[in-house]
Amino acid sequence: MHVPSLIAHKRDGGILAEKDIRWLIRGFVAGDVTEAQMSALAMAIFFRGMTVTETAILTSAMLESGERFCFAGEHPPVVDKHSTGGIGDKVSLILAPLVACCDCWIPMVSGRGLGITGGTLDKLESIPGFRVGLRIEEAQEQLKQMGVVMMGQTEQFCPADKKLYALRDVTGTVPSIPLITASIMSKKLAESLDRLVLDVKFGSGAFMKTRSQAEELAAAMKAVGEKMGVHVMAHINPMEEPLGHAVGNALEVVESLATMRGEGPPDLVALVLAQTETITGVSQEKLAGMLQSGMVFEMFSKLVTAQGGDASSLSDLAKIQAAPVVRDVFSAASGVVLRVDAGQVGQAALELGAGRGKASDRIDPRVGFDALIKVGQPVATGDRIARVHAADELSAERAAVALLSSLSVG
Ligand code: URA
Repeated sequence: MHVPSLIAHKRDGGILAEKDIRWLIRGFVAGDVTEAQMSALAMAIFFRGMTVTETAILTSAMLESGERFCFAGEHPPVVDKHSTGGIGDKVSLILAPLVACCDCWIPMVSGRGLGITGGTLDKLESIPGFRVGLRIEEAQEQLKQMGVVMMGQTEQFCPADKKLYALRDVTGTVPSIPLITASIMSKKLAESLDRLVLDVKFGSGAFMKTRSQAEELAAAMKAVGEKMGVHVMAHINPMEEPLGHAVGNALEVVESLATMRGEGPPDLVALVLAQTETITGVSQEKLAGMLQSGMVFEMFSKLVTAQGGDASSLSDLAKIQAAPVVRDVFSAASGVVLRVDAGQVGQAALELGAGRGKASDRIDPRVGFDALIKVGQPVATGDRIARVHAADELSAERAAVALLSSLSVG
């Protein structure tokens, strides 16, 4: 096989044969197809797309790059949820322990930050000691013991997605329907699920900018999932303003912990309840009661301990991960908040250090925004609209300016 010819074939709008797609993915995982070549191929796919058949083959090649969860004998329903990515989207952190409280198993495999969107793994790693790189045997044992595991792709589990995901993050090749479909569905199919709910986002803070693009992505993922015997349900949700009041890794965990104790912001709670109801069949009223009771927080604390984290740090996380500079941002206008542009807030958080510019970058778990004002709230000149958490004064100043320009008041 001649890799440059395959890249050129896709660049020129050709259809890749099954054997070529499988060979490219195997070669990429083995290191025979270089990162430069795979980046070029991803860009060609971004511009030229893939047919339904090519996308299904890519998904299956990525799925087969590693092992799968295997559940023998009688066991509870195995379910999961995955979001296509948003700003302040911390639903997974709350939903996973909530699902485990509903007598379902949830083997949640997530990703790191992607483009301007945050990643569940980066958020979890802001908890001291938390390990996301579990062996599959260890993950299965934990699932049996407590019904929930939260981990990432590894050399053993979806290695093709682990490598391609990191590459797409830094090469401008994320917002592609076939690449997102293969990335998400290869992970979810490797979990051997019974039911999956997809939270497909559209808007300025999402990879799909319009509802119709989100519907197209949802249909592509459903088609691949159903073909492989998983019942896939899709919720299409706007991502025009950040979810909740916090954006940034540790800041989002802090907001999630409050939500697990029944003190979450209404927009975040609504998504958690709707998606959990869809996969567990438990009513939203009952689920809301579980959040209020504290049992979800307890389940999450157990999960943290099981994965090497320090559960006693949870109550102090805001202090442990305090940024060196924390400053208020004040409104320059009076009226009602018409828009808090999620895309601009996500970009500002990334530039504060919450995301990566190249694969080797280390994220800063401490930085981001909290106390963010919401659309529809009245505001007067000089009122606080958010707090910036930054590594230094200069980046705090830049972030404050960016945040102000993301806001429309009328
Ligand atoms: N989530 C993923 O796991 N992959 C994508 O490509 C986008 C969101």
